[in-house]
Amino acid sequence: MATNRTFTMLKPDAVEKGHIGAILEKITASGFRIVALKLTQMTTADAKAFYAVHKERPFYGELVDYMTRGPIVAAILEKDNAVEDFRTLIGATNPAEAAEGTIRKLYAASIGENAVHGSDSDDNAAIEGAFHFSGRDMF
Ligand code: CMP
Repeated sequence: MATNRTFTMLKPDAVEKGHIGAILEKITASGFRIVALKLTQMTTADAKAFYAVHKERPFYGELVDYMTRGPIVAAILEKDNAVEDFRTLIGATNPAEAAEGTIRKLYAASIGENAVHGSDSDDNAAIEGAFHFSGRDMF
């Protein structure tokens, strides 16, 4: 059964380019409520663990370097059908294939530096949210 929460990160490229405000505005204007929010920086160990599912991929090292090079914004978001609706809002992994008006179409540079993360399942949304936030930081 679909839950009503998903997890997102505004990735280092989006933060570096000053897009935090615009992206959060688009997220809340699209009906998502912010449950938890912080500016933080992942360590190499954090990024390796978070992306462990990709560890055999050729881009894994590049992905870990990218995700640790500067701060990110981590957030838990709430909305009916949150996981699926958020993935629609952010668009395809490759911004060249992302639909008009999606966050990646607007703000992402490439398939590697794609501005924003969205959980791909309810189970992963819960795991990823718990990776970054304790219960006392969820509202
Ligand atoms: P995301 O789907 O949020 O999580 C996995 C990340 O790996 C993805 O975003 C990109 O940042 C990165 N990624 C996926 N495919 C590639 C690729 N072909 N080359 C480089 N990075 C990639």
